[in-house]
Amino acid sequence: MRILANGTLVTPEGVREGDVALDGKKIARVAARIEPAPGDEVVDVSGCWVFPGFIDAHTHLQCWTGMDWTADSFETGTRAAACGGTTTVVDYATADRGVTMPEALAEWHRRADGTCTANYAFHMALAEWNETNRRDLAAMREQGVCSFKTYFAYDHLRLDDAETLEVLEALKPLGGTLCVHCENGTLVDRLQQRVFGSGVTGPEGHPLSRPDVCEAEAISRLLYIAHLAGDARVNVVHLSTKLGLEAIRDAKARGQENIYIETCPQYLLLDDSRYKEQGDDGFAGAKYVMSPPLRKPADVAALREALVAGEIDTIATDHCSFNLCGQKERGRGDFRKIPNGGAGIEHRPALVATSFAGQLGPTGLCRLMSENPARVFGMWPRKGRLAEGADADVCVWDPEARWTIHAATQHQAVDHTPYEGFQCRGRAHLVYVGGELVARDGEPTGTVPGEFVSR
Ligand code: URP
Ligand code: ZN
Ligand code: ZN
Repeated sequence: MRILANGTLVTPEGVREGDVALDGKKIARVAARIEPAPGDEVVDVSGCWVFPGFIDAHTHLQCWTGMDWTADSFETGTRAAACGGTTTVVDYATADRGVTMPEALAEWHRRADGTCTANYAFHMALAEWNETNRRDLAAMREQGVCSFKTYFAYDHLRLDDAETLEVLEALKPLGGTLCVHCENGTLVDRLQQRVFGSGVTGPEGHPLSRPDVCEAEAISRLLYIAHLAGDARVNVVHLSTKLGLEAIRDAKARGQENIYIETCPQYLLLDDSRYKEQGDDGFAGAKYVMSPPLRKPADVAALREALVAGEIDTIATDHCSFNLCGQKERGRGDFRKIPNGGAGIEHRPALVATSFAGQLGPTGLCRLMSENPARVFGMWPRKGRLAEGADADVCVWDPEARWTIHAATQHQAVDHTPYEGFQCRGRAHLVYVGGELVARDGEPTGTVPGEFVSR
């Protein structure tokens, strides 16, 4: 056994001093003191917070997004995730139009299996609604996929309202969760034409063409549709606006209970002033072209308040990385052609800990980045808790570490980071996946023990 000794354990019962014993792929014991037996390895983790491994429930790895392939593969993305303390990612497999969900799932397994440092699970995104997809939902459930995604935006992905209703109705008897990208796509298309037509062609046109109203309207519509479907279980992904938050509060006040809220570090830490960044070549603002876009300071403040008040369930990254060079730069002169997405899979725990540990403490960090993602996405109690019998996915966190994020030293396979120069307080000291040490002080050990998590 391996005993992590003298740590500050972040457990479902609260924070306490103690030891954790890992035996193979499981946590064997959690106790105030575990006496080592001959042959046991004892790792002194005094001064560190011991978390159940962090879970990033929103990633796009090794994925064609309609404009380009993402820069990170499952290999590079899960390695970077592990360096930051994330031991499981839930990635969006996507059944594009003309592709069945079983075909997409098989393809995502082909891409991921055997290459991952962190564990991985799949949501399944549907780009069309038809009898084949309706029939295949149960098969997905049997193959370990219990959460799905639909889009209200992007011409090649979006469903209409009636289709969204039918997906929600079909998922109900299966106990499935629908994650929804809430932006009104027809409005965005028209506003993009208008903004571009008015002569705004650079990255600063991106947020102008996707205002908060487009998100709030889509969230409000989704929640009414979910109500119509009998209070169906929905996860509003990447919430970015105060107006969208208010739409969720309204639905909850009307009595809707099955609503989960995800936001991302970028909407808690960055605002739309970033689109003016020039950099060396006048195009650095493209780093922040993601959908939804970065918002106004008032939106950031509203989300931060909601987070601290406990209104937000999970923080995920929406990691969808594209290089500036050779990928995003293709949208120079036309912001509509910049591949949408940002990088963050490696840095989420440090960004969130630095920004919120003071207000939320280690239990709050655990709730948002480990426990709640496990609960919302069907991995609890196997993951998301430091307890006997749970998986030996553990992040030993050094709250005293001080370091700075730089693209030059990151492990994400992308040529920039939206958080360049961010000064971090705290770092993943030791990271275990299935009982194996995968990263130490932000550097990978080279093992790839990540397994598919059937949910
Ligand atoms: O810009 C983003 N977020 N691209 C990834 C796809 C999505 O909308 O989640
Ligand atoms: Zn999305
Ligand atoms: Zn996404």
